[in-house]
Amino acid sequence: MSLTLEALRRVSIFSDLQESAAIQILGRFQVRTFKKDNLIVSQDSPGDALFVLLEGRVKVVLYGENGREIILKLLNAGDFFGEMSILDGEKRSANVIAMEGTTVCSLSREDFIEHLRENPDTAFNILGIMSRRLRYADQLIGNLTLLDVYARLAQVLIDLATEEKDERTSGHWIKKRPTHQDLANMIGTSRETVSRAIGEFQRRGLIHIEGKALILSQTFVEQNFADFD
Ligand code: CMP
Repeated sequence: MSLTLEALRRVSIFSDLQESAAIQILGRFQVRTFKKDNLIVSQDSPGDALFVLLEGRVKVVLYGENGREIILKLLNAGDFFGEMSILDGEKRSANVIAMEGTTVCSLSREDFIEHLRENPDTAFNILGIMSRRLRYADQLIGNLTLLDVYARLAQVLIDLATEEKDERTSGHWIKKRPTHQDLANMIGTSRETVSRAIGEFQRRGLIHIEGKALILSQTFVEQNFADFD
């Protein structure tokens, strides 16, 4: 399988590329597939490639003592990862794991750096997304200290629905809801606590589950969870 021009254009960081630059970089990508739970990037390995997610979903994770997993971010089709170690010259900052069958294309460190030097639009797009990721991480740190579990869970669900929102969908949907364990690993709590909170949100009619999807009501999105009990 090889990368097409249309697929490259759907990747937001490359969407502003001139035709000639897009064609030039296209042939340098290598497409690879991974099965669910495969490790794509391993923490502390050298940063030798940038990855663009074409299909599927991955989680960016750290492991604490006793193998406890902390999820920093879920990434979806069109997102990129692996840029940090290339840009700062350090080792990989985290592990990246396929959450389902996943197709990525990778660009070698050298090709990525050359491309950035020649295409400032891509560099600015990457800076914008890195700023957004830092903003999200800042918010997460604040939430861990300031909010209780119900409010942290509500915030993560609202963030996931907001990321998926586009002009074709109305309401607040998470099309492929993460497992309770994944949600727990995103907000630093146990699976049992997440299950209890989800049950409570459902009982109060604030959220609904439909197959793989989770639908948030308008009341849920507007609710102040600071005094939820
Ligand atoms: P790198 O350090 O090369 O390898 C791991 C990758 O995970 C990293 O680049 C980023 O692409 C991604 N990553 C690390 N931390 C975060 C985060 N907080 N949010 C989103 N992506 C991240």
